[in-house]
Amino acid sequence: MENYIAQCVARREKVFDEIGKDGVAVIFAAPERRRSNDTFYPYRQDSNFFYLTGFNEPDAALILDGSKRESILFCRDKNPEREIWDGLRCGVSNACQKYRMDKAYDIEQFRKKLTGCLKGHKRLFFISKQNRKLDKEVLRLWFSLQTKRHKTQDICKDFNNILTPMRQIKDAVELDFLRQAAKISAAGHICAMKNVKPDMWEYQIEGIVLSEFFQFGARNPAYNTIVAGGKNACILHYIDNKDKLKNGDMLMMDAGAEWQNYAGDISRAFPVNGKFSAAQKAVYEVVLATNKAVINAVKAGVAYETLHKLSEKMLTQGLIDLKLLSGSLDILLKKKAFRRFYMHGVGHFLGLDVHDVGARKTLRENMCLTVEPGLYIPDEPDIPAEFRGMGIRIEDNVIVGIDACEVYTQDAPKEIDEIENLMAG
Ligand code: GLY
Ligand code: MN
Ligand code: MN
Repeated sequence: MENYIAQCVARREKVFDEIGKDGVAVIFAAPERRRSNDTFYPYRQDSNFFYLTGFNEPDAALILDGSKRESILFCRDKNPEREIWDGLRCGVSNACQKYRMDKAYDIEQFRKKLTGCLKGHKRLFFISKQNRKLDKEVLRLWFSLQTKRHKTQDICKDFNNILTPMRQIKDAVELDFLRQAAKISAAGHICAMKNVKPDMWEYQIEGIVLSEFFQFGARNPAYNTIVAGGKNACILHYIDNKDKLKNGDMLMMDAGAEWQNYAGDISRAFPVNGKFSAAQKAVYEVVLATNKAVINAVKAGVAYETLHKLSEKMLTQGLIDLKLLSGSLDILLKKKAFRRFYMHGVGHFLGLDVHDVGARKTLRENMCLTVEPGLYIPDEPDIPAEFRGMGIRIEDNVIVGIDACEVYTQDAPKEIDEIENLMAG
């Protein structure tokens, strides 16, 4: 983490350059979220807050004072009694050294110190709805300090507009974390492929995958794991994972581990009994060819839209070849006939958030994204029986390079013979 903390310092320096001497930025840690009564979900830090601090505790705030170029962390102080119940805290006295802050205070002093930090600045950079308790207070205090001659939009700016472009381009430490998240995610997929048998339950496969993540030290998945047998794979966000896996069905698994808050996001589809049927092979090959063609097209300067259009074109041609669509390619594309079988984008950015920040426009070096074409064939009477209720998505994670991309999820098998050999044991 030391390398990451060093990067956080560099990021805050960049923020100071952006906000200028007149600017001050305030950002809060994510609150703890209650699961029931007095128990909580595992804590997950706010991605922007982590990006700037590397600090993983709740009840914290960061103020970046542009006039002094000072980073001020507010956090929970040491409390031996609470630490017996809830675990160790960094504490105020350790925060400056450990997180390389200029100043640190007890979060209890946040309100008291806030006025002094805001005063003398003309622009506040802030992200609304981060902390229900303190949000309003910051804004109320800020506007009460301003003279009437400033227009609201000039003096309170969305901090995301600075952080999002920064987060889109990954530095070397982030790339290492993403590669590690992907490595662990791939191990989970391999373990599922090796262990699945007809008549197991989807949740048992989920358990195997999560257990494998844990073996490698990833304490959380990056998102809810999808283990979808047969037609459940046609529900894009199927997370119930409650059905029995049937002999002869495909299993579509979308599972990613989180490593130091960075996400892996891999989908693979494989036959529950270890052997692809002719129909499964035929659909799989269309999706695989599309996955590879899109990956081949990824490089700096390419528009995301170009990649998506390529996936639409290849999948539509595949659907024609499979006789699931009929007509001319151009007309079918114009009519968006593929939408019945392919209704999502070909990918998204990946980073601290699994669906990471930033508009999907022109790709730049060291952006990270998923490539995840899929076909979802509904269980409907006009579809030939052998294709009904089959969902196949093949999802890899890539780092954009100048002339090509690095596919860093290659540990997860995706060739048909590779999968069959692995499953045969
Ligand atoms: N796992 C979520 C997604 O692939 O977008
Ligand atoms: Mn994805
Ligand atoms: Mn996914």
